[in-house]
Amino acid sequence: MADTTPDDAPKPKRGGFFDRVVDDATEAESVAAKVFVYDGGVRLWHWVNALCIVILCVTGYLIASPPPSVPGEASENFLFGYIRMFHFAAGQVLAVMFLFRIIWAFVGNHHARQLFLPPVWSGQWWKEVLFEFRWYAFLEPDPKKYIGHNPLAQIAMFTLFVIPMVVMIFTGFALYAEGQGTESWWFAVFGWVIFALGGNSFFVHTVHHVGMWVIILFTMVHIYAAIREDIMSRQSLVSTMISGWRYFKDDKE
Ligand code: HEM
Ligand code: HEM
Repeated sequence: MADTTPDDAPKPKRGGFFDRVVDDATEAESVAAKVFVYDGGVRLWHWVNALCIVILCVTGYLIASPPPSVPGEASENFLFGYIRMFHFAAGQVLAVMFLFRIIWAFVGNHHARQLFLPPVWSGQWWKEVLFEFRWYAFLEPDPKKYIGHNPLAQIAMFTLFVIPMVVMIFTGFALYAEGQGTESWWFAVFGWVIFALGGNSFFVHTVHHVGMWVIILFTMVHIYAAIREDIMSRQSLVSTMISGWRYFKDDKE
């Protein structure tokens, strides 16, 4: 049957998901098959942070389980020194970038605040946490659409990443301060962490060590979920953290 609608007839107002997407988007498109979500600060932070964490986990693991002694004169070898140096350098970059990320939550777009502000007061949000859990467990047939993080990702990022990061930075700098000596300004600034944890440096090492495994656990699940959702969900994921744009695969509600 021929299409009888004239070309210049007013288009019906969609009133559905995409209109809300347009309202919520930072840079609205006339028809939002894509939405700008993660601004430059969030993306830069994400990838620098990921690199630092890989370096910190590899070097941290080696600090805790040192390689066997290398042959030759001690004065000709500095392997463990380099391992520690890379750990401390990556730790300092990680900490400065985390501070930058906190500032970016204030200066970036509203998606930049999601990481720090899971809306735990909202009943609807908790329902969607449960829904997403069921979706990840293959108990729901159809996924929902999200512009920013889905609620399950958000709660995982807050509890298994943001809180452990704070612990790792404070315990890391406390251990570093101890290495610099109790007379150092490092110790004046971070020494209190050791006393707050009972005054036992060994326990601070243990907390720092366990924190690494929490972050490794988070990262493994996170990368699995990012790639899985890129394939199975109705929106782009990995390319969104590269370009900033979220692409939707369909225009259904
Ligand atoms: C050590 C490694 C990593 C850590 C600690 C990490 C951590 C995070 C965090 C905290 C966020 C939230 C960003 C924000 O709101 O500011 C995030 C988002 C994201 N990450 Fe990673 N990430 C890592 C590696 C990766 C890798 C290798 C990929 C790609 C395969 C990836 C893909 C993503 C994606 C797609 C998002 C956005 C998710 C969404 O749009 O809801 N991440 N990551
Ligand atoms: C994701 C972040 C981090 C991870 C995964 C990590 C991992 C580790 C691990 C596993 C250890 C060995 C602990 C032990 O069993 O004794 C360690 C030691 C240490 N880390 Fe970290 N760390 C992180 C962040 C930091 C930061 C931000 C600093 C601050 C500069 C730091 C400074 C140190 C220091 C000073 C030691 C002790 C070195 C030694 O005893 O020779 N770490 N780290």
